[in-house]
Amino acid sequence: MAKQYDVAVIGAGAAGMMCAAVASARGKRVVLLDHASRLAEKIRISGGGRCNFTNVNAGPANFLSENPNFCRSALSRYTPQDFLALVKKHRIAYHEKHKGQLFCDDSSEQIIQMLRAECQQGDVAWRMPCKIGAIEKTGTGFLVTAEGGDISCDSLVIATGGLSIPKIGATDLGYRIARQFDMQIVEPRPGLVPLTFDGPSWEAFAPLAGIALEVDVSTGGGKGKGKGGKGKSGGHFREDLLFTHRGLSGPAILQISSYWQPGTPIVLDLLPEMDVAEELISSKTTVKKQLGNVLAQWLPARLADGLLTANGFAPDARLADMADAKLRKLGDAINRWAIVPIGSEGYKKAEVTLGGVDTRELSQQTMMANKVPGLYFIGETVDVTGWLGGYNFQWAWASGCAAGTSV
Ligand code: FDA
Repeated sequence: MAKQYDVAVIGAGAAGMMCAAVASARGKRVVLLDHASRLAEKIRISGGGRCNFTNVNAGPANFLSENPNFCRSALSRYTPQDFLALVKKHRIAYHEKHKGQLFCDDSSEQIIQMLRAECQQGDVAWRMPCKIGAIEKTGTGFLVTAEGGDISCDSLVIATGGLSIPKIGATDLGYRIARQFDMQIVEPRPGLVPLTFDGPSWEAFAPLAGIALEVDVSTGGGKGKGKGGKGKSGGHFREDLLFTHRGLSGPAILQISSYWQPGTPIVLDLLPEMDVAEELISSKTTVKKQLGNVLAQWLPARLADGLLTANGFAPDARLADMADAKLRKLGDAINRWAIVPIGSEGYKKAEVTLGGVDTRELSQQTMMANKVPGLYFIGETVDVTGWLGGYNFQWAWASGCAAGTSV
């Protein structure tokens, strides 16, 4: 005999716990199911262990989706201030780090315990670790075959997240359930991920691992669109860049990776506050230095040498001897460095998964499937992906709350 609940939530991560807490506070009998043995591993490892739990500036422009307006409703009904009120209620100390990003002072574990306590207050039942089997639509709701006994529920919420970091339990269950009910999926791909480079054009940069600097980065015509790219086509960010052994990383690259399309270049401005060609040409008569030394005033010396070598300049050539046309070429290589990544580090390093359940299949007010009354998809399973900086958790909280108030 199946155990009866009003609501079953599969996936006890960020979105699932928020949804269970909100639904149970409305008096619903809720069960949370998860195959992991440790609760909410992604929250635990997030923000370097301090969980960047929201961003005070979060709004629809900070998200990528085939339908950029879909997230508007949920985000406006559960705002960063709403989550912050919960954090304050639980007396969790926090601080703002950079561009509106809020972090715990102590540990991400506090956010996990806060959500667990909210669920406990509503008597949410837990089943984890628990393998999920078949899911069936019944006359009145759903039957979930699950380790420890079948579950029958009026509403079923899928909060199993994306494919990033399989070693801590990411699976494609959410997409499989969507397909079972003939729902469309926007092809998933890794987002917020380091990019990799190879071949002769990268040789001069391979030894630069560890160098970091603030840059402008753009792709797909994103430059000039303001602080960040919109929609799917273009992105533009000013953030830190980090050279690694396999390519490029750091916040600048993670941000742009979500907008990058394979086979196309990313464009880096390594000195965004300076028109390098103009500066070099105007210094020609007064500065008697070698090119490498001139660039090393503005860039890390090893990077300056790498850039000169990669662009066919001898680092010891004298600035005064260079033709203006050549200095313009060098200026371009620094202010508009276009390089084509060979790929990304993939799901094992990606912080998020782009794509997912097509938002055209869901109600933007409730997150319920249009064709399957009672079935909901929330969090990263859905084709809504935030920038780096607390936006993805804000989507998890907001979409979890939207479903939690509707189930
Ligand atoms: P989430 O992944 O949190 O939860 C899904 C749950 O479903 C998991 O508990 C999983 O075990 C379970 N599950 C999966 N498959 C299952 C199956 N077959 N059966 C049963 N259960 C199953 N974001 C942010 O805003 N600020 C930050 O600081 C960070 N930092 C960060 C660091 C790193 C290293 C990563 C990988 C990611 C981040 N993120 C982040 C992104 C953020 O963690 C992510 O967007 C949210 O956790 C998504 O919440 P969900 O609830 O949708 O999925």
